[in-house]
Amino acid sequence: MKELYILAVESSCDETSMSIIKNGCEEIATVVLSQIDIHKNYGGVVPEIASRNHIENITIVLEELLSEANMTIDEITAIAVTYGPGLIGSLLIGVQAAKTIALVTGKPLIPVHHIAGHIYANNLEERLKFPLIALVVSGGHSELIYMKEDYSFERIGGTLDDAVGECYDKVAKVLGLSYPGGPLVDKFAHEGKDTYDLPYPLDDKSYNFSFSGIKSAVINLVHNEKQRGNEINVKNLCTTFQNRVVTILTKKTMRALKEYNINNLIVAGGVSANKGLREKLTEECQKENVHLSFPRMSYCTDNAAMIGAAAYFAYQKGILADQTLTAMATDTLYKYK
Ligand code: KG4
Ligand code: ZN
Repeated sequence: MKELYILAVESSCDETSMSIIKNGCEEIATVVLSQIDIHKNYGGVVPEIASRNHIENITIVLEELLSEANMTIDEITAIAVTYGPGLIGSLLIGVQAAKTIALVTGKPLIPVHHIAGHIYANNLEERLKFPLIALVVSGGHSELIYMKEDYSFERIGGTLDDAVGECYDKVAKVLGLSYPGGPLVDKFAHEGKDTYDLPYPLDDKSYNFSFSGIKSAVINLVHNEKQRGNEINVKNLCTTFQNRVVTILTKKTMRALKEYNINNLIVAGGVSANKGLREKLTEECQKENVHLSFPRMSYCTDNAAMIGAAAYFAYQKGILADQTLTAMATDTLYKYK
């Protein structure tokens, strides 16, 4: 079969990234330009600043990518881009760039859903095995997804309110930790003890999650202790918070695997970098003989390599776009059956 080289673009939040992926699994080159240092000053991503930086970065990223890959645009088979969900102003820059490259070169354009990208980050480690369950945990999503085959997504459950990454970031903020707080809370969670009285978030029989209650519990606890003049033990609070979150994510995921009779689990999204979650799921999957896959650490958070991997399978299903493609702040993944 002819080799397929996909040039992928990702700009849904605060990373400007492009990648060339061969046949959905082999990374030729990837460039990620992160804006974290800029947004840190504001305690979170400022959408207007993010899109302005994407404009400044996007051609630099393209030039750097082609030079790193030692390839010309003529050697590329198709162009892929994250069209949504994400920050609309940020998405527009990537979509416009991809449409322009496709128009100038006459190459096919593949629209990729951001969450499909996170899932296919795992295909860069090893070929996905079906049927599988994907636990998607990021700054914007927390979902359990069933996949019977490539690029087919069925929702099992998901968050009723906040995404787990968003909850990590808010907890970090109230504890005075810098943005993005997830990695720091994770680090401190390994250095403290489980001493605080925090609720288990939505510990029920459903496959849904709810993280706003535990987030509010942490915020109230911090405010109350401050009012009483008591010091917060940040490390112990991080340990307690992470234990509650990881316990529920693991419990519901393992139950879904059992009830759906599936023995392949993949984890995806920014929070899949969480060491506590990795440890707990690895332990449980070993016990239950479940094959478990995580993306490599650098591809847990946003990058174009995962978009290039997903695009290969979207392309096989005939998912293509033309010059009318537009960015979408929200869009369902479950239309891809
Ligand atoms: O997937 P991602 O880059 O962006 C979205 O698509 O939302 O995920 C970013 C999120 C942030 O909320 C960040 O705090 C969280 O992933 N995150 C972590 C860790 N590393 C990143 N959360 C918990 N533990 C980590 N080690
Ligand atoms: Zn993401």
